[in-house]
Amino acid sequence: MQPIGPLMHEHRLIERMVGLVAEQAEAIKRGIAPDSEFIEDAVEFFRVYADRCHHGKEEELLFKELGSKDLTPELSAIMQELIEEHKQGRSLVASLYQANKKYRKEGGDSQSVVELLNELSSFYPAHIEKEDKHFFFPVMEYFTREQMDSMLEDFNTFDRQMIHELFLQRVDNWEKVSEQSGSGNAG
Ligand SMILES: [Fe+2]
Ligand SMILES: [Fe+2]
Repeated sequence: MQPIGPLMHEHRLIERMVGLVAEQAEAIKRGIAPDSEFIEDAVEFFRVYADRCHHGKEEELLFKELGSKDLTPELSAIMQELIEEHKQGRSLVASLYQANKKYRKEGGDSQSVVELLNELSSFYPAHIEKEDKHFFFPVMEYFTREQMDSMLEDFNTFDRQMIHELFLQRVDNWEKVSEQSGSGNAG
């Protein structure tokens, strides 16, 4: 297997989530109130799965290795675009989080929530298509079989460590909140 195998597999799950996000935007446009809980779950999916787990492997392993290869100017330019798009994705998700939080707290106009859901559901398929159709296959040519196997092993290690990292961070944050509110178990 090539390292792009697991990445493309992850793209398929992101696409399924994008489908649900697009359906949510359509429902709101038909007059149904935004499902804030679903949107919160979607934000978590894009933060944890799409960004940390998926973009994390792309940026910290695949793109990093490609940085030491003599890529064609075209592929180098695409890689820069992809890195920029990851940043855009992060900021879109952060805006959606804020808009959803505001709507949940204050109600009112759901326009910005719909716009962000729509932006997200057109942003991801375009990004994925660029990787799947114009980047992933040609960059695999730069790796030997041994290098690909080693990257696949690094992907596994990355995934294994991620869950521990994620919950360590959460417990750290919960402890901080607990200390600040003075309601910590340690008293
Ligand atoms: Fe990407
Ligand atoms: Fe990707």
